[in-house]
Amino acid sequence: MLLPSLLPGVGLAGHGSSHTRTSLAQAGTRRLHDNRLQASTLERASTPPASGSRLGEALRQDFPVLHQQVNGQPLIYFDNAATSQKPLQVLQAMEDYYKQSNSNVHRGVHHLAGKATAAYEAAREKLAAFIGARSSREVVWTKNATEGINLVAYSWGMSNLKAGDEILCSVAEHHSNLVPWQLVAQRTGATLRHVPIKEDTQEIDMEAFHTMISPRTKLVAMVHVSNMTGAILPAQQVAEAARQVGAKVLLDCCQSTPHMPINVEQLGADWIVGSGHKMCGPTGIGFLWGRQELLDQMPPFQGGGEMIENVFLDHSTYAPAPCRFEAGTPMIAEAVGMGAAVDYLTSLGMDNVHNHERELGGYLYDRLSRVNHISMFLDQDGVAVRSGHHCTQPLHQQLSIGASSRASLYIYNTAAEVDKFIEALESTIKIFD
Ligand SMILES: Cc1ncc(COP(=O)(O)O)c(C=O)c1O
Repeated sequence: MLLPSLLPGVGLAGHGSSHTRTSLAQAGTRRLHDNRLQASTLERASTPPASGSRLGEALRQDFPVLHQQVNGQPLIYFDNAATSQKPLQVLQAMEDYYKQSNSNVHRGVHHLAGKATAAYEAAREKLAAFIGARSSREVVWTKNATEGINLVAYSWGMSNLKAGDEILCSVAEHHSNLVPWQLVAQRTGATLRHVPIKEDTQEIDMEAFHTMISPRTKLVAMVHVSNMTGAILPAQQVAEAARQVGAKVLLDCCQSTPHMPINVEQLGADWIVGSGHKMCGPTGIGFLWGRQELLDQMPPFQGGGEMIENVFLDHSTYAPAPCRFEAGTPMIAEAVGMGAAVDYLTSLGMDNVHNHERELGGYLYDRLSRVNHISMFLDQDGVAVRSGHHCTQPLHQQLSIGASSRASLYIYNTAAEVDKFIEALESTIKIFD
């Protein structure tokens, strides 16, 4: 589970703005305030969660990278919101692909081309089933979630938005779901507006959302689960309000697809994006899911091989989606690895994944809330957390903090790691005190 920012206003020395550095001085006196954390989805637990920890312990053997020491200490990897580790099953699937099936896809008629194409398309089927898509034709492979958002921005946005139209984001967007809309707004004359978050819970202010959405709104582009606060967007409510004014909805599901069951039909969005590397898959692959009828209407994003039907010297016709949006040789081995990652998560059961992270996250949250002072600490204790702005500079500006530190958990984390993390934190605090 993605945990909320643990250390608002605290950064690492020599890192970030002067605001960040001055806030180090405040670190010793700053306490963790319950109401600044998005704890609503966490199970508060002062004793280690037995069942949740069992899952973490059981899965660790699948993740070779976790079995190493950092500065003489066992690695505790709590930077899962940035990227997850990869199980042997994913590594093996990619190795097998290169050893036994490597070829280009959709092009050749020889044996290997058939095997590679089948493996590539099988992965698409798996992902489609994982997110509850009606058909694998609704899944476009992209290099990451960022590319999926840019695809919608340049394909749909550039041909559907004009001056007077509004794009509604929130102040909590990852830069990936903000900068593309800034660029499209500049080019089309559309206006980009930002729904605020609530001071106390740091959730999207839904009252403000309902007052801001109007028939001028053509697109709502929002983060499903914040990578900084962990707040979950009431997606169905957002989609319903958008439907009433005829607006489209894009959800950035980077931090939800790895951690909870996702069903695109239930979410009610028109597009969602995700990144494979955050859900046990390899880097270099992500996906855009879009409603078939919408993808069919969207013009190409990039031109080249794979995405065409017929090419003449002066014009071309285009393949139907999803191939229309996959110009050039795609990331074939990565798709195969992604398929194996989806198999892995599916075999665990996303409800079990979610419960494990809620329990373990609750335990971490509860232990942290009893630490008197929260301060910086380094990876000399073998703990990998993320410090900085987490690609959410506007959200940090809203919260008047220069940077924050984030501990984010995943399937292979355990209560014993939480305990060691707390020990490391407390000993660092003693040094600073
Ligand atoms: C909420 C959110 N959106 C988008 C992204 C961008 O993902 P990628 O860099 O894989 O495209 C991230 C990555 O941290 C994220 O957490």
